[in-house]
Amino acid sequence: MGKILERALFAIAFAPIVFAIPAWSQDEGPQKPAGEKGRAQRLDFDIFKSSIQPIFLKKRLGHARCYGCHTGANRAFHLETLAPGSTDWTEEQSRKNFQSVSQLVVPGHPELSLFLHHPLAAEAGGDAFHSGGRQFASYDDADFVTLVDWVRGGAPHSNSPSATPSALVYVTNSAGNTVDAIDPSTNQVVQIIHDVELPHGVGFSADGARVYISSEADDVLDVVDRESTKIVKKIKLSGRPNNLAVTNDGSRVLVGIRSGDGAVDIIDAASLSITKTLPVHGSVHNVFVTPDDRYAVTGSIEAQMATVIDLRGEQVAWEIKFDHGVRPMTFETNPDGSTKRMFVQLSDVNGFAVVDFAKHAEVARILFPTDQARFGKAEQRERTPSHGIRVSPDGRALWVNSTLSNATYKYSLPELKLVGVCELLLVHPSNGPATGAVPDWIAITPDSSRVYVSNSGARSVTVIDAATMKPIVNIPVGEVPKRLNTLDLSKIK
Ligand code: HEC
Repeated sequence: MGKILERALFAIAFAPIVFAIPAWSQDEGPQKPAGEKGRAQRLDFDIFKSSIQPIFLKKRLGHARCYGCHTGANRAFHLETLAPGSTDWTEEQSRKNFQSVSQLVVPGHPELSLFLHHPLAAEAGGDAFHSGGRQFASYDDADFVTLVDWVRGGAPHSNSPSATPSALVYVTNSAGNTVDAIDPSTNQVVQIIHDVELPHGVGFSADGARVYISSEADDVLDVVDRESTKIVKKIKLSGRPNNLAVTNDGSRVLVGIRSGDGAVDIIDAASLSITKTLPVHGSVHNVFVTPDDRYAVTGSIEAQMATVIDLRGEQVAWEIKFDHGVRPMTFETNPDGSTKRMFVQLSDVNGFAVVDFAKHAEVARILFPTDQARFGKAEQRERTPSHGIRVSPDGRALWVNSTLSNATYKYSLPELKLVGVCELLLVHPSNGPATGAVPDWIAITPDSSRVYVSNSGARSVTVIDAATMKPIVNIPVGEVPKRLNTLDLSKIK
């Protein structure tokens, strides 16, 4: 079999598996992306010339240039030889290069394009071996992003999704400087927000026009124009932020301040300025708003305490002390919309606490099955056994991550009965046994049908079918993905 044909078949046979489909087996084939109509299906030659070709010639630290190896006639990815003394290809040569690369690309589908997953590091979801090495260590590499954008059919760095999705799931790449937006109808990253170093929390304005991101590196709240992904304002905070919450009416953004004794910066969304810095006991890790917009609740790891803030007077209403540091929380509502119970994850607890909101007291503690707790030691996450919890929008299920089980559990509401479990992917380090994905957060689509789990140790987001509790796909994202939040665009317009 000819080398090129062999490789093409290889691409067809394996591309979807190595790039987009998780290591665990699955019954369904790769998801057929929906919403094709709005997508550009042609590769842009001008962008190829101006942005893609320069990457082939670029000296990138620690890597030989693509050009150094890919001028041979026996390469499917074949580059023309530059004329002596010239530093760029002629128009005619560029056309030939374009022709060669085009054959390794499925326009609109980065996950199916050999051109992308062959030079991408295996650890980041790329092919197992490339003689040219791991040219791109992660999905976040700036040059790789340029290639992906081109394949996706958009102009590099224009970053605006061409179709109009009904929701977007945002994930902050907490050890990177990007935030990815996933379209749940195709389960692809359709937009990347750049230049937010150490992004922590993410939220949205009521009209969906702005994305708020707290940046731990700069002590700011970045206000991003959603369509263009440009940062339009940096609001200086009173200290190093952690997570944030936006009131459901969109009027206020609350940012938890981790440095110092503990505070919440309250930002008026109209003027985009801080109106109050409310002190609370203990530095704040996460902050949430109850579904009825009456209260905000902050959690402190250090003070082992949750503080409930009355949002009308912006005053502390009550506090509740725990025996461990307070981690993520989520709320169950009464029929009238008021808050019934609060589910609270705690340091060192492989489960969660149940708080009666009216009684201001913990009424139960639910622990995960101990026989499933096989992970967390190699990852050194034993002190954070359970991180990520969310009541589904329809109020009928509670989804909770367990790092020790490397899984996401589903409980029925209001019974709090364990319904089932979805095992997450394994990570295969080159030098040791498989470890867990270290799940960090949960977001759910507005129709409650899909659950998104960020795998902080696996540079991916797992999509779970809420009904079958089976994983659908692992989406490669940036470095140490953590907080997830869903923007419901169907309500806006
Ligand atoms: C050290 C030499 C070397 C460098 C540098 C190199 N490659 Fe390769 N590449 C190869 C070889 C050899 C193959 C074929 C065998 C294999 O797959 O390992 C290959 C295969 C590929 C393929 C699969 C199609 C084909 O031609 O077989 C793609 C796509 C690819 N490389 C992309 C890149 C990109 C993009 C860069 C630069 C960012 C790059 N390579 C840099 C040596 C290299």
